[in-house]
Amino acid sequence: MARATTSFTCSECGHEAARWMGRCPGCSAWNTLVEEVRAAAPPARAGRAAPARPVRLADVSAPAEVRLRTGLGELDRVLGGGFVAGSIVLLGGSPGIGKSTLTGMALGNLAAAGRRTLYVTGEESAAQVRLRAERLAGGALDVPALAETDLETVVATLDAERPELCVIDSVQTLHAADLTGAAGSVGQVREVADRLTRLAKARGIAVVLVGHVTKDGALAGPRVLEHLVDCVLQFEGERERTYRTLRALKNRFGSTSEVGVFEMRQGGLVEVADASARFVGEATRAPGSVVLAAMEGSRPLLVEVQALVSPSELVPPRRIANGIDRNRLALVLAVLGRHAGVGVGGADVFVNVAGGVRVDEPGADLAVALAVAGAARGVALGGGPEAPPVGCFGEIGLTGELRTVGHPDRRLAEARKFGLTPVIAPTGSGPGAAEAPTLRAALRAALPRGAVRAKAA
Ligand code: TYD
Ligand code: MG
Repeated sequence: MARATTSFTCSECGHEAARWMGRCPGCSAWNTLVEEVRAAAPPARAGRAAPARPVRLADVSAPAEVRLRTGLGELDRVLGGGFVAGSIVLLGGSPGIGKSTLTGMALGNLAAAGRRTLYVTGEESAAQVRLRAERLAGGALDVPALAETDLETVVATLDAERPELCVIDSVQTLHAADLTGAAGSVGQVREVADRLTRLAKARGIAVVLVGHVTKDGALAGPRVLEHLVDCVLQFEGERERTYRTLRALKNRFGSTSEVGVFEMRQGGLVEVADASARFVGEATRAPGSVVLAAMEGSRPLLVEVQALVSPSELVPPRRIANGIDRNRLALVLAVLGRHAGVGVGGADVFVNVAGGVRVDEPGADLAVALAVAGAARGVALGGGPEAPPVGCFGEIGLTGELRTVGHPDRRLAEARKFGLTPVIAPTGSGPGAAEAPTLRAALRAALPRGAVRAKAA
């Protein structure tokens, strides 16, 4: 007789085990295995399946991807040209960042263009969703909504309605009745994603699973979800700030290096197509500020990097990095002290990328170094507050040398477009750059005369 089966799944890595263990054999995390009980399955048909015939790849038919453009340029670009029919996208982000707003606007635009859409809400009531839609422009009010948390009902509705794009807000609120465990538990989330993926593929429905993000920034629920879906989008930024960035952490149908920039306003999210102009316009030019010519995917983006260096009572002193990697900050501070005579050993150092933007590239090193040096010396870079802002990019090596980074030409063109001078960059970056072979030389080019003293660290 078929019986219910019990298994244990790691909430961190998705590893499956037959019995409970204190430590996950997959990722070595403690107390992460959770019990899953599956209702009795029909008798297995082991040994009775007919073999299938593999097909030579050249003979496999590969129809062109059908793309659904949402009309939100930044979202479409990050997706690689719009949603692919039959694909499943996980959209993660902390509460209040604007996931429901973004998906609501995308659905609204598609509905206004006569496409079939469906918004499944397990988190808010249909009335609450309506209130949000009233604030949004476009066809947000024309989107059919379903307030439902039962997975079977959602699957049946999807199958009957056959929308072209369906948003599930959120994956953690749906519940499969034949599985124990509360909605949002590892087994539940995986089952929900699995069932919806199969339906999406079979019916050519593009499905967006909205997912919550834990405090430390990881997508909540099992990491295994990231393997199941075609595309993982991360919506980030600080809730108090207006700017939000959307990036693809995984994309089977496009690049993972594209970034979309949005601003949260009264009428919803507004695309920031000219993000560089905004950020340069807002740059302070005070001591501790510099403009970084960064690359976000294929697009150059100018962002202001700010630093504050202040005497500290703490041992060790604080090292706070917002928008850049903390380890990278530690490296830059070490090289500044050792090779450029700017020691900040006993001081608190805060570094911040303005606007709540994140730059994850070694090309940001030089900007961090210049901002910290300016802050430590208390001098504005370049010609001071009245002069054009100073731009820079470049990776810093452990011996104090500046190393070239990708696309110097595009970075320089963007910097020129917004009037940055000088643009300090590694040797070999090309015409228009104030080239510097080392960090020390870069400091000399950026700081006013007399501000660089070759003090031994
Ligand atoms: P929401 O999309 O509900 O966030 P999430 O689904 O990620 O939790 O919206 C988050 C915030 O955005 C909310 O606090 C209100 C604000 N907001 C605006 O400022 N303008 C708008 O037009 C809308 C719809 C929301
Ligand atoms: Mg929401």
